[in-house]
Amino acid sequence: MSVDSITFEEFEAVQNRASSPENEPTFGEVVQQRLGRRDILRGILGTSAIAAFGPAIPLPAGMGDAAAQAAARPLPKDKDGFSFVFDELARGVDETHHVAAGHNADVLIRWGDPLFANAPAFDPQKQTPQSQLQQFGYNCDYTAFMPLPLGSKTADHGLLWVNHEYTIADMMFPGLVPEGQDRSVPEAITKDMVEIEMAAHGGSIVEIKRGKDGKWAYVRDSKYNRRINAVNTEMEFTGPAAGHARMKTKDDPAGRKVIGMLNNCAGGFTPWGTVLSGEENIDGYFMGTVDQSHPEQRNYDRMTVPSPWYQWGRFHDRFNINKDPYAANRYGWIVEIDPYDPTSTPRKLTALGRFKHEGAGVHVNKDGRVVVYMGDDQKFEHVYRFVSKGKFNPADRKANMKLLDEGTLSVARFDADGSVHWLPLVHGKGPLTAANGFKDQGDVMISARLAATHLGATRMDRPEDVEVNPRTGLVYIMLTNNDDRAPESPLHPAQAQVNAANPRAGNSWGHIVEMAPPGGDHTADSFKWEILLKAGNPAKPETAASFNPATTENGWFACPDNCAFDSMGRLWVGTDQGNKWQWTSGDADGIWAVETEGPLRGTARMFFRVPIGAEMTGPSFTPDDGALFLSVQHPGVDGVEKVTKSGGRGTFADPGTRWPDFKPDMPPRPSVVVVTRKGGGPIGV
Ligand code: FEO
Ligand code: CA
Ligand code: CA
Repeated sequence: MSVDSITFEEFEAVQNRASSPENEPTFGEVVQQRLGRRDILRGILGTSAIAAFGPAIPLPAGMGDAAAQAAARPLPKDKDGFSFVFDELARGVDETHHVAAGHNADVLIRWGDPLFANAPAFDPQKQTPQSQLQQFGYNCDYTAFMPLPLGSKTADHGLLWVNHEYTIADMMFPGLVPEGQDRSVPEAITKDMVEIEMAAHGGSIVEIKRGKDGKWAYVRDSKYNRRINAVNTEMEFTGPAAGHARMKTKDDPAGRKVIGMLNNCAGGFTPWGTVLSGEENIDGYFMGTVDQSHPEQRNYDRMTVPSPWYQWGRFHDRFNINKDPYAANRYGWIVEIDPYDPTSTPRKLTALGRFKHEGAGVHVNKDGRVVVYMGDDQKFEHVYRFVSKGKFNPADRKANMKLLDEGTLSVARFDADGSVHWLPLVHGKGPLTAANGFKDQGDVMISARLAATHLGATRMDRPEDVEVNPRTGLVYIMLTNNDDRAPESPLHPAQAQVNAANPRAGNSWGHIVEMAPPGGDHTADSFKWEILLKAGNPAKPETAASFNPATTENGWFACPDNCAFDSMGRLWVGTDQGNKWQWTSGDADGIWAVETEGPLRGTARMFFRVPIGAEMTGPSFTPDDGALFLSVQHPGVDGVEKVTKSGGRGTFADPGTRWPDFKPDMPPRPSVVVVTRKGGGPIGV
């Protein structure tokens, strides 16, 4: 977090509060209906129920994607039947990272590492906007491996895309926090600091190679290396909101171009070799207000714009909505980037809607249309699906680049009977009319949250990554937590907020929902859904957690956030407990391997953990599953009061750890770690 007098965690707590209105009936009865069905077997009554009723249910017949299943490599199996073959890591928390035995976890690239031949070495005492523009950015998040050359099956040489989600001024700038204190004041932030922050945002493209010794390294002077940033990277809008009146500013009277992307959290990649990157908490970058009577006010309220976090608007009018009332509408989109062309212009895809995007799970449907699943990460927000109008053509990359410009965005309503219905956000359909404030399709996309509310979408527990299992075609939603969800109460029945797909009140631990498209058709109007597991400590009944009872005490986790499937269709889940980790689990975030099929379905095993104060983000694999890339975000920051000298939160001078350099003059550095198996071969096999 920056500068201002609040931490990122505090900011996050504010912005994660629901901004959506109460728009649903009480779901008490429907929860009971669901409990009467499969959830009893899944352990909502406690893990003993599973033991009594037998093992968790295997995939229901016809729910998976038969074609995908037939094409997938067979799953490995250890002596106990697990498809993940490794000795589980012990849970815990300390100053460094750990990986399961038999694997290496090496730091590949750190904040400040030079990306170009002439880029300066990282010197935290002498950082400038110019040096940061040539170096790896801050708070790495989503990663994606793209083989070199494009279209090859190469698994030891490629481009790594990395999101740089946000910056934390108090951890980046020496002397900013007064001695003996644990936070700076907003006025202490200088224009140079703001520009370093802007330069450290966005993303990096960096060429990487696996050497003969099996070790990965980045190529410093690669012609592909690029820093996408918020200082000078021009982007263009495509789709129905491009050129819309609500996208126009003084700098861009046509409403078609914008500098930079903000708070890029997770993402996805396309089969035509581009990256999708999601702008998440864009509200924190804007200051100023629009008049309460201004037509934009309602939508800004729903997006919690402005939020008091960054100081950028003091120095740059494009972050001040007093100066430009529509400035914030130009952020909050999915951005498509071509990493193979360093001169390409990133495109903000307005057909995919504007909200607080986590990631973008891409799937080519069997008829060739491209489907993108997306979560909107705020309490009580929604799950979305985009279906392209056109079809993927493996022989025409240029045409594929336009596929995400036109199609249908829908939002999910999860019903108690186990069905999920996709409600189209199409102007003129149902309530999406001028009478409700939607004059055209651009309005619907810019105000996607408001449109979703009109359609009756289900209010979820902070939807983060949504990914398709390449083996079964089933779709998995990480719901990270929502401790504001109100319970049922006989005295106040109208205030209950639990619903079938989000059944726990005060859900501090999150859960995973599985969706099954009928016959593997991801464009269908209705799917089936199930809860795969409810996170939390199964030994504590008050958490109402449900894992498969084969899960050990190291295997349970809290707050699923990012996830990745390897090429075999095994699910790896990263966690983000935030600064409440001491309460939600008592241990560090990390990666857990989660079984999704067979008798061990719903079992989790711990594979990797981060240093204290960090969050686990960005898991991705090489196509041969021989390397797993992980982002260690904000080491030494979250919930480190017990290890800092001040007893407060981490700062540049007094961090919770100095990972990964462990040098007294070096602050902790967010870094990408690459996990490989000792002796080579696929991970966890
Ligand atoms: Fe940036 Fe939803 O985590
Ligand atoms: Ca995330
Ligand atoms: Ca998160």
